[in-house]
Amino acid sequence: MVLPSIEPRQNYCQWLINVKLSRIVVMVLTILILTPLITHFYLSKVERSANSVSHSHVDLPEDLADLREVDLRVGVEELVRIRGSVLSELRNIEKKRQQFKQELQSYSKNIEDLKLELAHQQTNLNRLKMSVEQAEVAMHEALQQNTPDLALPQRLLPNELPPKLPAISKERSRNCRMFSCFDHSRCSLTSGFPVYLYDPDQHPVMNDGWDVDGFLKTTLKQVLGYNPHLTQNPTDACIFLVLVGEALKDTDDVTENIGNHLNLPPLDSKALQRLPYWGGDGRNHVLLNLARRDLSATSGDIFSDIDTGRAILVQSTFYHDYFRPNFDLIVSPVLGPPGGDVWQECAYMLPSRRKYLLSFQGEMKSTPKSNTTSKQFLFTDAQLEKENVELNNYILQHLKNLATTHTSDKFLFNFECVPASDDTTLLPFDWALCGTDSSRRGILKDSTFVLIFAPTSTDYLSTTLLQARVYEALRSGAIPLILGGDQIQLAYHEVIQWRRVAIFLPKARVTELHFLLRTIPDEDIMLFRKQGRLVWERYLASVQSTLDTIVAVLRDRLNIPALPADTVAGISVFNETFQPILVPAVGDVEQEESLGPLEPPYNSLAFRRNYSLGLTQGHEIWNDWGDPFRLYAALPTDPILPSDAKFIGSERGFRPIASGAGGSGKEFSEALGGNSPREQFTILLLTYEREQVLLDSIARLRGLPYLNSVVVIWNSPRLPSADLRWPDIGVTVHIIKAARNSLNNRFLPLDNLQTEAILSVDDDAHLRHDEILFGFRVWREHRDRIVGFPGRFHAWDLNTKNSWLYNSNYSCELSMVLTGASFLHRHYLHLYWKWLPQAVRDKVDEYMNCEDIAMNFLVSHITQKPPVKVTSRWTFRCPGCPQSLSEDDTHFQERHKCINYFTQVFGYTPLLNTQYRADSILFKTRIPHDKQKCFKFI
Ligand SMILES: *[C@@H]1O[C@H](CO)[C@@H](O)[C@H](O)[C@H]1NC(C)=O
Ligand SMILES: *[C@@H]1O[C@H](CO)[C@@H](O)[C@H](O)[C@H]1NC(C)=O
Ligand SMILES: *[C@@H]1O[C@H](CO)[C@@H](O)[C@H](O)[C@H]1NC(C)=O
Ligand SMILES: *[C@@H]1O[C@H](CO)[C@@H](O)[C@H](O)[C@H]1NC(C)=O
Repeated sequence: MVLPSIEPRQNYCQWLINVKLSRIVVMVLTILILTPLITHFYLSKVERSANSVSHSHVDLPEDLADLREVDLRVGVEELVRIRGSVLSELRNIEKKRQQFKQELQSYSKNIEDLKLELAHQQTNLNRLKMSVEQAEVAMHEALQQNTPDLALPQRLLPNELPPKLPAISKERSRNCRMFSCFDHSRCSLTSGFPVYLYDPDQHPVMNDGWDVDGFLKTTLKQVLGYNPHLTQNPTDACIFLVLVGEALKDTDDVTENIGNHLNLPPLDSKALQRLPYWGGDGRNHVLLNLARRDLSATSGDIFSDIDTGRAILVQSTFYHDYFRPNFDLIVSPVLGPPGGDVWQECAYMLPSRRKYLLSFQGEMKSTPKSNTTSKQFLFTDAQLEKENVELNNYILQHLKNLATTHTSDKFLFNFECVPASDDTTLLPFDWALCGTDSSRRGILKDSTFVLIFAPTSTDYLSTTLLQARVYEALRSGAIPLILGGDQIQLAYHEVIQWRRVAIFLPKARVTELHFLLRTIPDEDIMLFRKQGRLVWERYLASVQSTLDTIVAVLRDRLNIPALPADTVAGISVFNETFQPILVPAVGDVEQEESLGPLEPPYNSLAFRRNYSLGLTQGHEIWNDWGDPFRLYAALPTDPILPSDAKFIGSERGFRPIASGAGGSGKEFSEALGGNSPREQFTILLLTYEREQVLLDSIARLRGLPYLNSVVVIWNSPRLPSADLRWPDIGVTVHIIKAARNSLNNRFLPLDNLQTEAILSVDDDAHLRHDEILFGFRVWREHRDRIVGFPGRFHAWDLNTKNSWLYNSNYSCELSMVLTGASFLHRHYLHLYWKWLPQAVRDKVDEYMNCEDIAMNFLVSHITQKPPVKVTSRWTFRCPGCPQSLSEDDTHFQERHKCINYFTQVFGYTPLLNTQYRADSILFKTRIPHDKQKCFKFI
């Protein structure tokens, strides 16, 4: 209820108590009741005495008697009148009594109200005290921090073209390493790693008769345009990219001559020298030879005869002796599309064991038909090569035997292509690919493992054909088993952990192959397969991913941080001329208990690990949950300090409970505790044309501790009515205009979001303050998961037996927590828009539904963990929440379809089951009277 003012009531109350109102009332009532009784008694006595007089005078004369009769009548009338008036008096008094009684009741109600108000005020006072204490701690921290925050160093750029230096000797070039051939002065830590691309049309570097694949030329220019490191300014550049291949023979020439009539190598070293920023020796130049069509090796090492100075070479084919470790880069051929969604290329991942345990399709050409550029047995002596060939024959025999032995495992080995391979440019004793891309794909999709031979010639560290076979295998979910794996290197091996993707077996141990494969359980098969798909999708699948990966690997080598991930600029619906009307928020604040200090907004610390993240967690970023291409303000997986660090040297920012002494409810409510430093959360609200519902929801947030700000995404094209009265709740409320009405907007990575913790809610979700804060505290311990209230699960459809059903029935097991009321890390908003295939967001738009399912898929896919459901008070209300919406049958049908569609996109169902719900620790614990529970009601 609304109290106009407290002061006069309190005085009145005082007065009431002083004069002991109740006693007075009793006295007054007594008097009022007694008086009429006495009067009545007196009057009836008079009447009786009058009667007795008449009886004693029966012998009086008639006239006298007449006279007396008249008198008597008058007297009786008089008496009747008096009696009437007394009765009405009595009625009046009764009415008054009722009135007094009512007043009395209302006073005692007032007293109750005031008592309640007093309790509220006391809670408020406690919170204020707590807030003051917290503010003092924060101030103390600020004062103690004797080192000021470091200013961002100036972005250091070379700001000059590379000066011309003398060319280096071939010998030095052969031994190039980063320290000897790379000019680090062009690539400072804060430079942002600018990359310059020579336009392949303006600066051709190929000899006559050779040309660069046209598709590559255009695509490369285009996809590098999307790379944030690309600069147009050569004076700033750290590295210079030169596209030299895929080198293809001019089509005109082919008609004249099978080989190259001038017998020129593809690359013109003079043209390299003429590149405007070559600087005499090609420092910081990166020569890209990307194979696309010609998968056999003749297009291979096009650099071996050429003077490439101090340039870094990037290609798929390398001789052991020419590869300069941690300087040159092995890449996979660019066999995929320019960019975009690639999930459709991939095979469904289940069942883990496929039809064939192991398959191989290939044809060995023992005599190469053409040897224009390839060299046979370049470095290894002939004797060793002979042994190699013998070993190969032995292996072949062993495999052929394996395929015919009686075993339940199925093998598919084709050592001769049908029709025969027409590859004329093959390396000596190497395996040609059989069939077409799609026929090979069919077999690979049916194979658990696929055999890949390292090149017969041990001269090679890598060949394009080998890399292409790995590419094809991973795309179809066949786990590569590389025979001779100890002799080769796969693409980007500096950063990619290939041991988690493929099995490497020395050729001589071919006899162990079958035993080895059989011992691998389903779980590990799935790990291999999923890891293979991760590597394929992220680093190999398209021209875009290849280019981004090349740039990222070189940047990573120098430990220059990636550029920050893009955020979406939130445009307010308000402007200078259209301002919201703010009114003080009123209404039920629901503060039966004090839940935490009220603090000024405190943003999460951001970008603290720019220069250490890649060093300490680089492996995980490249091989697990991370995005090596962009830098994020904070990650859900950021490390935490041991608990004693909070007291020994790293106190800053931590808010241990009772300064570390710990405690029950009271102390708990005064500090955040936990393992992470202090922080707040942001409420992210999606709304569509429900203005009053929204305003009520916002008003309820008044006085919510740890709330940083509220961001409302205004999904309707219609702007809010000008006369809306926006509740002022003491924190900033951003109302952000959405570009269009889409449920995907729920997860826009807006620049207004200043905290890691995001509470995503529907505009009508009615969460109580204690529930929100409990959810927040739980999320702080599960920062990588969705932590929230409405749980759902995916149930196997027992009718079709091949699909999932969305289910919102009461259940003791769940696999999703809906984002209509849950906490999640800000990082996932970026991933929802950047990492998730566009097809998923399109499906969400098509159905206007399922964005919450998509987010559950995404987070479970990344964490391999189920979400966390937190307890809610049994009074949890959520009018119009999906519960009631889901009564609607089409809504439900769509959600079934979404789960099955997302499963196709991900290649498997990442959702995991959980039977766990978080309750506060002292909930349902009997505790001594002088102690408080963590929360009164949950
Ligand atoms: C291929 O190499 C062999 C031996 O090295 C040589 O005799 C032959 O002429 C070469 N063939 C062509 C087409 O260059
Ligand atoms: C402010 O917003 C209103 C409503 O969208 C629009 O009509 C007006 O032109 C805007 N004014 C300015 C200065 O942008
Ligand atoms: C870290 O990187 C971010 C994004 O580029 C930048 O805003 C921030 O200032 C950097 N911090 C430091 C200490 O360099
Ligand atoms: C929920 O349970 C009811 C009755 O047990 C059942 O009829 C209904 O199909 C269930 N809903 C779903 C989505 O499984």
